[in-house]
Amino acid sequence: MSSSSVQVTLEKLVALCKRRGFVYQSAEIYGGLNGVYDFGPLGTLMKQNIRRAWLDSLYQTSDNILLFEGAILGAAQTWKASGHVDNFSDPMVDCLNCKHRYRTDEINLEKPCPHCGKKDWTSPRQFNMMFQTQLGAAADQSSIAYLRPETAQSIFINFKNVLSTNRVKMPFGIAQIGKAFRNEITPKQFLFRMREFEQMEMEWFCKPEQADYYFDIWVKAREAFYPYVGINKDKIHLRAHAKDELSHYSKATTDVEYEFPFGWKELEGIANRGDFDLRQHSSHSGKDLGVYDEETKQTYFPHVVECSVGVDRLFLTLLFDAYAEDIVEGEERISLRLHPRIAPIKAAFLPLTKKQVEPMKAIFDNLRKKGYQIQFDESASIGKRYRRQDEIGTPLCFTYDFESETDHCVTVRNRDTTKQERIAIDQIEPYLIALLQ
Ligand code: GAP
Repeated sequence: MSSSSVQVTLEKLVALCKRRGFVYQSAEIYGGLNGVYDFGPLGTLMKQNIRRAWLDSLYQTSDNILLFEGAILGAAQTWKASGHVDNFSDPMVDCLNCKHRYRTDEINLEKPCPHCGKKDWTSPRQFNMMFQTQLGAAADQSSIAYLRPETAQSIFINFKNVLSTNRVKMPFGIAQIGKAFRNEITPKQFLFRMREFEQMEMEWFCKPEQADYYFDIWVKAREAFYPYVGINKDKIHLRAHAKDELSHYSKATTDVEYEFPFGWKELEGIANRGDFDLRQHSSHSGKDLGVYDEETKQTYFPHVVECSVGVDRLFLTLLFDAYAEDIVEGEERISLRLHPRIAPIKAAFLPLTKKQVEPMKAIFDNLRKKGYQIQFDESASIGKRYRRQDEIGTPLCFTYDFESETDHCVTVRNRDTTKQERIAIDQIEPYLIALLQ
């Protein structure tokens, strides 16, 4: 086996995702919906693994985190108070000649339009990225609602509900995984910048004087998460925001960045949001979201440390990081070296010929019923089946061959090394358990 130095490109990943049923362009048969994607069977399994790994990693840092699932439709007042109605916008310009639209920070207005070559720009203006909709039949100001552009706000407006209805004490976290929507001016780079995407956000509520301490704790914990899901440490770094790039709510932000083929880009943001959110929602709603401190006998607004990462952006990162091309037995192969935690299929069960289908199927069914994410494949030559499993990132292949009947063993093949070893059939499950630890 020899490694090749071929670089992964976005085009290669998009093609693999389509070919193997990870991700499809949404509404493809109607020409596609820009910035919107559907996830196929393998993509769906992989997303479930990402969500699980994220939650597991939070619980490893704290046993004081509660789950939450807020509504996607949000009241106009929520988004006014959060600052999104006034601040959640990107600057944009249009080319008057070809009507192409750009973010002004991504284009040089001194130069002609990259699309049509004419220089005929509109003046720059702010474009609010929230999707607005109407609730009910009467279309007036009072029926305006928004699809949430982040999951965080539903946590803030329910902070008191959660605190008062659960046996929980400060400091504690509320974690949510769910859809978010942004009308990005230029959705691009596949799953990197989408219009409909999914966020994993955890809001950590603490006393004001503890916020800096917990900010550091969570930055370290979140940095450690990426090797935990198999991402190469050298491709990850932390970047603290300069004062002039902080969001309107943030006192301090550190991004976890990944080195994509298109440069170092944000993968996750960790922010010290201070008491901005609870204070804003208290003042706009007239409901006191402060907390009474038994020690000081005073009420205060908790400060919030937020960790926020996109499921889809992480999905893309994991694929970039895992993609490999090499030569095996004189043939080129593509493989996804996904961590077993993340791989959509943990092991494939392959009878060598039709004669071994029945006994191999019995072993497979027994494990499948126990809940393992595994696949049975009896079609094509064994070499082709190995290639297929390599390309979808399956760490192990078990093969039942002519000798299995007599020696009660199978061959197990490792995706990354392609090395094979013989193990007893009753050792398959312990082997899988060890893999998944
Ligand atoms: N609550 C804070 C917040 O939403 P953000 O930096 O705007 O902060 C957090 O978003 C994370 O959500 C990003 O680091 C990224 O992983 C993901 N994300 C944001 N916009 C996205 C988009 N248009 N497409 C895919 N993922 C996106």
